[in-house]
Amino acid sequence: MNILFLGAPGSGKGTQSKNIEKAFSIPQISTGDLLRAETASGSELGDELKKIMSSGKFVSDDLVLELVSKKISSDDCKNGFILDGFPRNLSQATSLDDLLQKLNLSIEYVFLIDVPTDLIIKRCVGRITCNICGKIENEFFSDYKEGYKCEKGGVFTKRADDNEETVTNRLNVYSEQTEPIIDFYKEKGILHRIVGGEDGPERLTDEITSILKSD
Ligand code: AP5
Ligand code: MG
Repeated sequence: MNILFLGAPGSGKGTQSKNIEKAFSIPQISTGDLLRAETASGSELGDELKKIMSSGKFVSDDLVLELVSKKISSDDCKNGFILDGFPRNLSQATSLDDLLQKLNLSIEYVFLIDVPTDLIIKRCVGRITCNICGKIENEFFSDYKEGYKCEKGGVFTKRADDNEETVTNRLNVYSEQTEPIIDFYKEKGILHRIVGGEDGPERLTDEITSILKSD
């Protein structure tokens, strides 16, 4: 089962990917997480990436394609994968098609998580992520208080690109470059629009799970 999550920054792609990863035992491939791992390594490439990501722009298509290609071809993905944050423009979408064709694979489900823009900034600015297990929470919506810790023992940290200015830039880049690929997948007949709001992630996970189980 090969799945792809599309949606604006903060729409909940990472949250839903992790829930589906757990429910169906297929790995999440988040290009944002892979790039952040590189920035945390302190390498020269990581420093370059940090500058680009802090501005809200995209890193190069070639680099993300290489990261994704390595992951998809690995043994971990032999029962399927969940793409989160890739592709993000038409060029990446067609490169992904070429890659999958070579590997004799295809994407079966694309979930577009559609969330009103006014919720996005609060979600991003309040996002906290466990530095050990990657669990995503929100200081506005969870039981957050000073010194709040993950049950896996990790500490919750904030992302460098989650300030209001960068989130606004990321939203602009999303509408210019990523929104056009919605039609690309609609035309293939594999797009499912999941409408999110203020009622938490569980209802969305149930809706996605029932679509995945209905075939
Ligand atoms: P990336 O890390 O992918 O960021 P993004 O696409 O902007 O998406 P986010 O991770 O911010 O949001 P999300 O949809 O995963 O939401 P989450 O589940 O965390 O990419 C970062 C950067 O890397 C890019 O800007 C770019 O520079 C670079 N990059 C990455 N991929 C690239 C590519 N393919 N090409 C080029 N460059 C690339 O949820 C957000 C918050 O909301 C959390 O606090 C969560 O708890 C809360 N929440 C989630 N769902 C709900 C809900 N239903 N109700 C209430 N709260 C919710
Ligand atoms: Mg994410």
